[in-house]
This record gives sequence, C-alpha cells and structure tokens, in this order.
Amino acid sequence: MCGIIGYAGSRPCAHGVLLSGLKALEYRGYDSSGIASFQCGQIEIIKAKGKISELEKKIKDKPESFCGIAHTRWATHGEPNEINAHPHRVEGVTLVHNGIIENAAALKKAYEQRGIVFKSETDSEVACACLAILYRSEKNKLKVLREAAKILKGSYAFAIMFEDEEGVIYGMRKDSPLILGIGEEGNFLASDLSAFIRFTRNYATIDEDQIVRITNQEIECYDSDLNRVDVQVQKSEMDISTIEKGGYDSFLLKEIHEEGRVVMDTIHHYMKNSLQELSKTMIDLKKYHCIYFVACGSAYHAGVLAKNLIEKYARIRCECEVASEFRYNSPILDEKTLVICISQSGETADTLAAIRMVNKMGVDSCAIVNVKGSSLEKEAKYVLPTLAGVEISVATTKAYCAQVAVCCLLALNSCMDRLSSLQLHTIEKQLQKIDMYIDKLISDTNLDGFVASIMNKKNVFFIGRGIDYALSMEGALKLKEITYIQAVAYPAGELKHGTISLIEEDTPVMVLISDEKLVDKSISNMKEVKARGARILLVIREDLYHESIEADEVIFLPKVSEFLQGIVSIVPYQLLAHHLAAKMGCDIDQPKNLAKSVTVE
Ligand code: AGP
Repeated sequence: MCGIIGYAGSRPCAHGVLLSGLKALEYRGYDSSGIASFQCGQIEIIKAKGKISELEKKIKDKPESFCGIAHTRWATHGEPNEINAHPHRVEGVTLVHNGIIENAAALKKAYEQRGIVFKSETDSEVACACLAILYRSEKNKLKVLREAAKILKGSYAFAIMFEDEEGVIYGMRKDSPLILGIGEEGNFLASDLSAFIRFTRNYATIDEDQIVRITNQEIECYDSDLNRVDVQVQKSEMDISTIEKGGYDSFLLKEIHEEGRVVMDTIHHYMKNSLQELSKTMIDLKKYHCIYFVACGSAYHAGVLAKNLIEKYARIRCECEVASEFRYNSPILDEKTLVICISQSGETADTLAAIRMVNKMGVDSCAIVNVKGSSLEKEAKYVLPTLAGVEISVATTKAYCAQVAVCCLLALNSCMDRLSSLQLHTIEKQLQKIDMYIDKLISDTNLDGFVASIMNKKNVFFIGRGIDYALSMEGALKLKEITYIQAVAYPAGELKHGTISLIEEDTPVMVLISDEKLVDKSISNMKEVKARGARILLVIREDLYHESIEADEVIFLPKVSEFLQGIVSIVPYQLLAHHLAAKMGCDIDQPKNLAKSVTVE
C-alpha cells in the first residue's frame, strides 16, 4: 500500500533523503510517486506516474530543500496517474496519505459548496480540503488536526505541511502505520523503519489518534486532548543488508535463500534443543475447544496447514477463514475459543479488523506476526513472533516459511503427549538441521523441465491432499502473483467433480505428494488427469517414488516428519515461480497491482 516519508532536516538534502526513503518503500507496491518540499517559503510539488526513477528525473534539477514530504501511491480512489498522485494541496495545506477516507464522497460535495475545486479523484484530496477548510477559521494547527480526526471516517496516516510554517511537518494516524525517526541532522515520519534506517536507528511509534509535530530539532507528540505526551525512543536492530539485494537479481530470490536461516532463527526463539521447551514458549492449545486461524493470502495458507496438523495430531477442532470473510460470517466464538491471526506485516486491514472484533467480544486472541511494533502485535492478547527479518519482495517466501514453522511448533506442542519418544527424538533431530534440508533443496533442485512445461501456458493446476493441498494453494498463489499465469489449486480428489473438464492436451498439472498414507490416492488422481492429456509435473517425497509412477517431470523432496514437511515442501514451488517470472521478464519484486501490506479493507 502507499508509503509515506517526511523529513525535517538541518541541511539542504531533503530531496535526496526523501528519494532514498521512497526507494526503500518501493516494496510496499505503488504505481506513482511524488514529493512536496519547501522552496523559499513556498511548497513545491513534483509528481510522476510509474517508477520512482521517473520522479527522480523530474526532481534532479530542482534546488535542494531542508524539509519535505513524499509518497508512493497504490491507487484506491481514481486511476494511477499524475493528477491522482500525492502530495495533494488545498489552499495552504499539503499532505500525503495512506489509507481510505470512507466518507470522502459526502465530504467532497459539502466542500465543493464551500468553494473547493477538486483536481483529483482521490479521497486524500478530500482529507486535505477538510484540513484547509478548518484552517480557514481555526489557526491553531493542532486543533485543526484534532477536529479533522473527528470528521474523517476510515483509515489514515498523514504527513502534513502548512505553507505558513516552513520546516515543520505534522503527522497523525488511525488504523494505518506511521512512525517517527529521530536523527542527528533531522527528524522523520514514515510508514515504516526501512524508509529512514539509513539515516537513523532511533525511532518511536505513534499511537492511534496521537498528533505529532516535527522540526529539524524537535519532536512534539500530543494525545487526542492535545496534552503533550512523551515518546518512547527505541533503537532498531534492523540489519541493513536485509533491505539490500546483496548480489541477487531480486529480493525474492535472496529471501528464498534466507529461508534456512530464518526458519532456524524462528525455531530457536521457541526451543534450542528439546521439544519440551515449547511448553514454556508456546500457547497451550489444549485448554481451548476450538482454534480459529484468521489471515489473508499466504498467511491464510499457513493457517490451513496448521488446522490440518492440529486436528490430525492434537484432536482439537480448528477452523481457518480468510479475514475479510471471518468478520461478516458471524463466527461462533466463546471463552473456550482461541483466535490466531497470522500476518507478516501485522498491518493488514482485514486481519486487524478481525482481531479487534475478537478482542471486543472478550475472546482470547493471538498473533503470529513478523513485524515488531506492528498494530497486530500490539493488539493481540498473546504474540508468537516469526523471525523472518524484513521481507521486501511483495510476494512472501521466507516470512511464509517462518509462519509455517511457528504453526508446526504450535501443533507439536499441543500433541506431544500423543507422540512416542522415538517420534519426538526424530523430530528434534530433524528440527536441528532443518536449515540444511532447505539449503540443499534450494541448491539441488533443477526446475528446467518444469519451467519449459509451463512457459507460454495459460492455465496451471496444483493438486495435493491434506497438507499438500495447503501447500498447493500457496504454490498456485506464488505463480499467479509474479508470473500472471492463471493457476488454481484443488484437493487432488476434487478435480474430477467439475474442474477436470478444463484439462486438455499438455495442460500442466503440478502434483505434490508427501504423505505416505495418501500417496496411492493422489497417484490415482494424477492418473485421471494424465489420461486426459495433462502434463504431470510431480513433486514427491523421495522415498515414496517408484519407477512405475508416470510423471513427465519429477522433483524430489527430502523425507522429514509430517510436522516439518510443510517448511521444506514449499521451496520448489517458490523457486518455480521465481524462475518462470525471471524467464518471462516479469517485475519479480513488485508485481503489477499488488501491495506488500494491504492496509485497506
Ligand atoms: C503473499 O505473497 C501475498 N503478497 C499476500 O497474499 C499476503 O500474504 C497477504 O496480503 C497477507 O499479508 P500479511 O501477512 O502482511 O497480513
């Protein structure tokens, strides 16, 4: 979603700082960008459609500035073009916005009657008009912002400049992220840390409905009654190399190569040597009658896998729902229910709305979340972190693997008493070298045959049973996201109930088999599509393969416990999506129409 950065500095370098921040925010997904900066007492705005390099070209001959705000836009209201790009200006107020103003249409009509002529189709310009109109009669800017917060419905993070107050930026937020950066040569406001980490590691979070005012030397923070409040300055330990490509062609490929390490880091957070340690670091699911997993996209797929393992081994009823449906489907929740929300960013609007509903009902909530300090982390009753580090590529890989790792540990902790000591010992041993399984799979897997079979095809099917179905959903999503090839996942046995009509000569069908109890059933399903001309691309646990299986291409998976299989089995599908996208010349890290963190419902 949109990215925001504001900089009030002591040196004339705002354009350079803001452009560097915008580049660091690129990963959030965007279609246009813009900068507003003070130039001799006036605010100048420069915007461009497309990549940040377009903005860079336009700004390079402009004189530098001490203070400015900038934005990457992911269109919600109005097409991606220069007019709709931010910053927006109405009278003496200029702002950038991330979020959605839900009552923009009604406000727009009212403001037109008060003489505002809107240039863009955006809700953000309406928010700007709201501030400008309030400022006509109220000259205390903090009061203007507080009044605007009462009028504007929806979600927002704003960075705002008033033309009559050079060098000052105001900020406020509701349901959208915005943090402060405290530097030696100036202060920052941004959607996330990565935007200013090259300049300072000192940061502070801004609470909902707080208002901040920054200059090159000062940071002031106010609560909603405009009382001055302290900010808690923290030091980020973010590894800057995580926001650099480090020799890889794309962040996605780099992040796949980091999977072994991040999965290990995540596991070590919960246990070092013995599975018994999990009883102290994990949540005891056995005290609940029902566990709900709620998430979006890939995080939802991790939830489907968790449901499968927990029901199978711990015999606790589980449900898994996409967050945007969960809230409106009237879920039956009570004091014996635990709702686990899974999210990489911790800012996904639908997932946040779900946890807020759960908290309001007094039901226990838990977040499996990657970003420290995110809204989801703050609002959940219990938190189970994933330690994937910063993930830049819009399509998730390493963060998904870390989510699956936490789900596996959660499942293991809930069924330890049902497993034999030999099983526990084997799992412990495999967990200790899980990074080696992943690294070996990354280095040894040759996907040339798979790539050639899918290249130029319009449709691909992914089939599997049990956790292999959950992983097939993730494999299909990865392919769609970055190659734009239509891919659909089906439970292997379900295809013949309709979808098999789409199978024709050479249609690629990806078959995933990792469960010895389901192997014969899956092979029968594979034969059904093979008989109708499908090209079978098989990913199978090495010990389950035999020569009589008629597949056109085969990739082997190492044999690990079913609890850990999900962590390794997804790797070939992630690599496949990458290799195909690279061959097709797609923008791997920033696929069209997608945003990294979807902060609107
Ligand atoms: C995954 O590749 C996607 N970009 C997307 O499905 C993502 O998983 C989803 O939007 C949820 O995001 P979150 O984990 O940040 O909540």
